This record gives sequence, C-alpha cells and structure tokens, in this order.
Amino acid sequence: MRLIIAKDYADVSRKAANIIAAQIQMKPDCVLGLATGSSPVGTYKELIAKYESGDLDFSQVKTVNLDEYVGLPKDHEQSYAYFMRKNLFDHVNINQKNCNIPNGMNLNADEECARYDAVINGFGGADLQLLGLGPNGHIGFNEPADAFIKGTNKVELTASTIDANQRFFAKREDVPTHAYTMGIGSIMKAKRVLLVCSGENKAQAVKDCFFGPINPRSPGSILLFHPDFTLVADEAALSLVKDQL
Ligand code: GLP
Repeated sequence: MRLIIAKDYADVSRKAANIIAAQIQMKPDCVLGLATGSSPVGTYKELIAKYESGDLDFSQVKTVNLDEYVGLPKDHEQSYAYFMRKNLFDHVNINQKNCNIPNGMNLNADEECARYDAVINGFGGADLQLLGLGPNGHIGFNEPADAFIKGTNKVELTASTIDANQRFFAKREDVPTHAYTMGIGSIMKAKRVLLVCSGENKAQAVKDCFFGPINPRSPGSILLFHPDFTLVADEAALSLVKDQL
C-alpha cells in the first residue's frame, strides 16, 4: 500500500484528482473505474476544473462504475447513474455511450450480473479504479461477509449502510434494500486502485481495513494484496493509526 497523507477533504480531492489526471494524460483511452458517495465528489470537481482549464480531455475515456441500487431508474435523483451525470459526466467531454453502470432496473439479477461482468472483462479490468470506503469497511457495495465475492453480485445492504445512505433520501424506508455491485475480484483486476477517504467517521474502517489482518469482515482489507494500491486519506481518517505512520 502506498499511503498519501492529506490535510483535509479538499487536499484529498486535489491529490486524488492529480493521480487520475496523470492516468488520463498517459493513456487518453484509459478505462476508469468510478465510485459514488460523498468521498469522490471533491475529486470529480477538481477533474472538471482541469477539463475546463483545458488540461484534460475525456473524449476517449471509458468508464465502469462500481455499483447501482436495485429498483431505481437511471433518472431517479438518488440513482448512481444520475449521480455520475450530475457530478462528472455532464460537465466534461466524455462520450456517455462509453460510460457503464449496472442497470438497477433489470430485476433479473443473474442476467444483469453476467452482463456487467462481460463489460468489465471485455475491458480486461479498469486501468485505474477509484474507491471510497464505507464506514463498515465496504468497497463498492461489497458488505462485510464470510468470503470475498469475485464477480458482480446482488447484495442485501446492511442496516449500517442503509443508515449511512439514508441522508440522501427523504426517509429511511425510501433507501433501496438491495444493490448490484462489482465484485471484489473485478476491483482487484484493475491495474491500479486509488481509495479516497476523509473524516473521523472513517477512522475505524481505515484501521480495520489497512492496519489489521486481511479479512472479508473488513472487505477493503483485500486491497493490501493489490500490487498498485494507493490510499489517499486525511488526518482525521488516520486518527486511530497515528502511532503506526
Ligand atoms: C456507498 C457506495 C460506496 C461508497 C460508500 C461510502 O455505500 N456504494 O461506493 O464508498 O457509500 O460513501 P461516502 O463516500 O459517502 O462516505
């Protein structure tokens, strides 16, 4: 693991965006694995600013997103398809035909998971996969479990994840109970993995995943096995491991 210590959320966002920008410049037709949640929003803002200043060209970039809620149409304000358009795709010159997200409206889980695996495998995995970290250590929507799941799968969200994501919905009952997520095997297939993490509410997950044993109960811990894994975390997210830095 390569650890980049940032001061705060804004600093995490700048540092992560610089890494992604360098990836796009080195390989203009790269495949970016993208994430949702509040963690990468600042990174996307920085990337948009680089595009607007003429420093980045997304015209050949292809993307595969990590996950999507089951049952939300892509125009629903809380769908991850909508999130990606609002926070990145609508603001840069990416061809949205090249942007892939699981289809939450395909209720045939076997079919949708197989379709999405074929998309990822068709690319040979992402060149760079961006990740956030759930407060319980989940990556994508791969929740703590007895084993690491390889391919795209339909998951039942844990109460802790529903609680964490409730802030985006009018009421808790509105939060979908299931999601499609890229599997841990597909995330590990990416050539480079970049995880952004900020705030004290992530400190326990950072400690469990990156400063403890590799364990499917802390899904992010598998990234310690990845040969090119970069963690960009701020001081608050690292507050429980200060003595190990
Ligand atoms: C959701 C997403 C994850 C994300 C996590 C953390 O559950 N599926 O991909 O990393 O939330 O979200 P946040 O960045 O808002 O803390």
